[in-house]
Amino acid sequence: MTSSVSFLGTGAMGSALVAAASARGYAVTVWNRDHAKATALEGVSIADTAADAIRAAGVVVVCLLDHASVHAVLDPVADALAGRRLINVTTTTPAEARELAVWAVNYGADYLDGGVLAVPQMIGGPAAEVLCSGSAEIFEAQLPLLESWGRSAYFGPDAGTAALYDLALLAGMYTMFAGFFHGAAMVGTAGVSATEFAARAIPWLQAMAGSVGAFGATVDACDYGGAGQQSLNFSDPRYIVAASREAGVNTDLVDAVRRLVLTQIEAGHGADGFARVIESFTEAA
Ligand SMILES: NC(=O)c1ccc[n+]([C@@H]2O[C@H](COP(=O)([O-])OP(=O)(O)OC[C@H]3O[C@@H](n4cnc5c(N)ncnc54)[C@H](OP(=O)(O)O)[C@@H]3O)[C@@H](O)[C@H]2O)c1
Repeated sequence: MTSSVSFLGTGAMGSALVAAASARGYAVTVWNRDHAKATALEGVSIADTAADAIRAAGVVVVCLLDHASVHAVLDPVADALAGRRLINVTTTTPAEARELAVWAVNYGADYLDGGVLAVPQMIGGPAAEVLCSGSAEIFEAQLPLLESWGRSAYFGPDAGTAALYDLALLAGMYTMFAGFFHGAAMVGTAGVSATEFAARAIPWLQAMAGSVGAFGATVDACDYGGAGQQSLNFSDPRYIVAASREAGVNTDLVDAVRRLVLTQIEAGHGADGFARVIESFTEAA
């Protein structure tokens, strides 16, 4: 039997999710505010209204811009959600995901929150992952749909956990990218192209990424004084700040990293290992 699924939102990511579900054999109905983006998709049914799309299937996937746009679309048609399984893969904060889960249940819908760890071109491929939390029943029953998009992982019944995980991983990604751009700006002052710098940065960052496993173990054991760790005094990025200034490069990013390190050194922990920097985050929370 063909399974039906409806999608609200056919922007860049929504369209990729639609195409992957469609290719997996789902009978797909789509609705998008700008109708032209929905009608451009092949092999799907087009709904005139969001309510029509919701009524067309028991499973409704929402992929809109943000939390406000999700409420803008769903609030007027909330009564149509009763008995439906709502999968929201719009990026939101954990609190927003929890709010939407409670809201959906009040209207008789079951709710699964998803964070898509991929860009649209990756959807359906081996590197894409969908992080999920909320309704275990939806997760288990809709695994084939989720796996049409990529790997999937379930983080428990708290609807906010997937968003927390998603945004924590994106924090790592964005600061790594920012670090690359900072370095590219530095060597750019010597006439080195960003492409040439990237060729050196890729193997270096890949090699350094291997350190996070040891950092994780150190943090969990609170073993900042353990043998073999590079000390905070040694890791103080003052030379990076100074070289950036010499080159006339904006120091916002490296100043922020240095502040996190100095917070621990000034508290008397300079001989401890670099992983102690996590205390600068958790103490600020
Ligand atoms: N693109 C990525 O690489 C990526 C990766 C991971 C997660 N995501 C997440 O996926 C979600 C969608 O991203 P996207 O890349 O598909 O963005 P997008 O191409 O900009 O599409 C945004 C979608 O939201 C709709 N929308 C925005 N405001 C609306 C409103 N007030 N009322 C009704 N519809 C509204 C747009 O409708 P119109 O077409 O009518 O404007 C469109 O369908 C976001 O939460 C994003 O963070 C994206």
